[in-house]
Amino acid sequence: MRLQDHIALITGAAQGIGLATARKFAAEGAHLVLCDRNPATLDPVADELRRGGAQVLAQALDVSDRAAFTTLVDAAIAQFGKIDTLVNNAGITRDARLVKMTDEQFDAVIDVNLRAVFRCTQIVAPHMIERGRGAILSASSVVGLYGNFGQTNYAATKAGIIAMTKTWARELGPKGVRVNAVAPGFIQTPMLATIPDKVMEQMAERVPLRRLGKAEEIASVYAFLASSEASYISGAVIEVDGGMTL
Ligand code: NAI
Repeated sequence: MRLQDHIALITGAAQGIGLATARKFAAEGAHLVLCDRNPATLDPVADELRRGGAQVLAQALDVSDRAAFTTLVDAAIAQFGKIDTLVNNAGITRDARLVKMTDEQFDAVIDVNLRAVFRCTQIVAPHMIERGRGAILSASSVVGLYGNFGQTNYAATKAGIIAMTKTWARELGPKGVRVNAVAPGFIQTPMLATIPDKVMEQMAERVPLRRLGKAEEIASVYAFLASSEASYISGAVIEVDGGMTL
């Protein structure tokens, strides 16, 4: 139980990596503040975790909505008195090749994957600074390090996450707050659901471990980074990709 009585706020917690992370943190003893734009999938997750013994504050919201997120954070502080870890997990794709990508596709991905991460962190960080401790974790991607066909917008946001992580590690380190990013390879979640099986097989063949990753394999890295076992890790970008980018 590495996260006993830990309070973790996880965005995009209703499915995929966010859901696996919520389950992992709860299994390690944490209580949870969860949000997702999809109430139909978020509510059953909150119920499941409560049945397992965790205290859960769950709110359907769009992370791009500053007012709604501020209200959630205020409610979390009122209920739990603190937020130990923020996991900026919510993310979307709107893929198209450079010459076909519309401004709408570009802006939609920037709004959720980059601007909302800035905003959510800006709203939570003062509470961590006040206590002199906390961990901010964000979802980057190997795509942010190496680029990817058809993902101008998405790759830009995931590279931006790395730049913000390093900047915040410098700004918040002296205040006792650690800031890190995880850069997953290809992880089997609903986000990849539209990719044909044949392409998924080809992707797996490029990975030295010869398979795609599981959401639980990202969740366990977030749990480690949130725990005191990672007490001297800040400003890091941890690639979790089965060796895909070697
Ligand atoms: P997913 O699409 O399976 O789940 C994302 C969750 O975030 C959904 O429940 C969705 O409703 C929620 N969400 C999306 N936009 C939101 C918004 N504006 N406000 C609130 N909630 C919102 O995605 P997955 O695969 O679990 O990815 C999670 C994170 O990990 C994302 O940031 C993604 O970019 C990143 N990632 C995923 C990889 C993969 O291969 N699956 C690889 C590298 C990074």
